[in-house]
Amino acid sequence: MSSTSGAREGVGVSHPNIAFVKYWGKKDEGENVPLNGSISHTLNMLHTRTVIRHSHAAGHDVIRYGEGELQRADSKAEKVIAHFRGLTGDRAPFLICTESNFPPSCGLASSASGISALVLALDDFYGTNLPAEELSRVSRQGSGSAARSIHKGIVQMRDTHGEFLCEWPGLKIFAVLVSGEKKRVGSTEGMKRTAETSSLFRQRQEGVGKRLCRMEAYILQRDFEAFALLTMQDSNEMHACCMDSFPPIFYLNEQSRRVIEDVHALNKDQVRAAYTFDAGPNAFIITREPAYPQVRRHFEEKGYDILDAL
Ligand code: PMV
Repeated sequence: MSSTSGAREGVGVSHPNIAFVKYWGKKDEGENVPLNGSISHTLNMLHTRTVIRHSHAAGHDVIRYGEGELQRADSKAEKVIAHFRGLTGDRAPFLICTESNFPPSCGLASSASGISALVLALDDFYGTNLPAEELSRVSRQGSGSAARSIHKGIVQMRDTHGEFLCEWPGLKIFAVLVSGEKKRVGSTEGMKRTAETSSLFRQRQEGVGKRLCRMEAYILQRDFEAFALLTMQDSNEMHACCMDSFPPIFYLNEQSRRVIEDVHALNKDQVRAAYTFDAGPNAFIITREPAYPQVRRHFEEKGYDILDAL
């Protein structure tokens, strides 16, 4: 709890994360429980900082993103605020000011850092000091991937909350920005459509549990080659399920596909890098020392904007 103007404030800082095995589909929509487990890395170099305080001006909760206009708080934010209202009995509306050092809503996992930063700000505001497991569960109610952002390093989510798995020294992640466009189909709507209409998705559900065990083993063994191949396959499978949805959902664009081909060309004689895409066209490239400078330079020289993430 802190204050510069005399009014009580709560501050939360969090980071986005990128999944190596993706969560796609909900078991319980109300509670927002993922249908399958996932494994991600929290991206320390990207962050969201959120400051909250009570404000009765609008009569309801409002959010300001950066220097933007005040907006009514969305349903994801309202879910986590409601949780703290349930704990404390407080009913006063909030003014939420939030800033990120990366572009929002273009598949850079902004809801993960946005919702987890809000949860941390609420915990700070009320002085509730919730344990990490509970902070992760509450974050999940707003955004499934946000549950993983409560922890640093590599994080595994089996069911209702994220858990720290390990660090992988020397692993490097950067984003190749191909578009700043807002995604056309939100993840909640996309997941629903895929679960209802894609037969490929049913096949994914049969294999994803085993894939998660393999991914955990490759990470713990530091087997970069096997890890990189499985990461690319999982991203491709999620996007294939999106395309198999009806009407189809296209998160990748022509440039995303070119980045995919570039990585395969880079990996021709040795696996140096992996790509993975969330619900948007921007690529995350995962590599490690000592290949990192060569892999990064490859994309820089092609004129792409690069965002260092880990
Ligand atoms: O947490 P949401 O609703 O933003 O959904 C996340 C979905 C993916 O980013 C595509 C996959 C994942 O596990 O992060």
